Amino acid sequence: MRSGMLQHLKDNNRAWAARKVSVDPGFFSRLEHQQAPEYLWIGCSDSRVPANEIVGLDPGEMFVHRNVANLAPPQDANYLSVLQFAVDVLKVKHILVVGHYGCGGVSAAVGGKRLGLVDHWLHPIREVSHDHRHELEAIPNQNDRLDRLCELSVIRQVRNVASDLFVQDAWARGQSIQVHGWVYSIADGLITDLGATISGLEDLG
Ligand code: CO
Repeated sequence: MRSGMLQHLKDNNRAWAARKVSVDPGFFSRLEHQQAPEYLWIGCSDSRVPANEIVGLDPGEMFVHRNVANLAPPQDANYLSVLQFAVDVLKVKHILVVGHYGCGGVSAAVGGKRLGLVDHWLHPIREVSHDHRHELEAIPNQNDRLDRLCELSVIRQVRNVASDLFVQDAWARGQSIQVHGWVYSIADGLITDLGATISGLEDLG
């Protein structure tokens, strides 16, 4: 019975759509005609980090890109397409790079075990780890060390985004874009701002 497959998800969907309309009858007809989000979220694919839900945003309010370990690699066509669309067409005002503590991608990157294709994907994290090895080696607890690596990787991705030509050209045109680095804690549901915000070429140093 094909139509009965994953019925609970389809039931959830009907109930969700009905709830939205009961609170706000124009909800879907408004969204149908335009998408004007102010935020681009670049986060981890981890199922425990649902972008919109964490920051209390509705459909239509945030453009979302997720991949393993929330990376912004300058050669990745998927990420670059999302970034350019968000900057040039949607004209988002804020780009949020959001990592999370306990990230499996980050620990796999430095775990020394061969996993396959994902090892290539995670290579940028090994570079961050190498660049900050002195700071990281001084942290005695392994989980604390990995959490710090999560933060350092987010800060590196913020710089990647801010160094991108789409973003730099937008700044040169006078467009206002801030790139922020956040880390989310699965343990308590709270976000920490890493204070790594870049608002223009002058912040890049
Ligand atoms: Co993760």
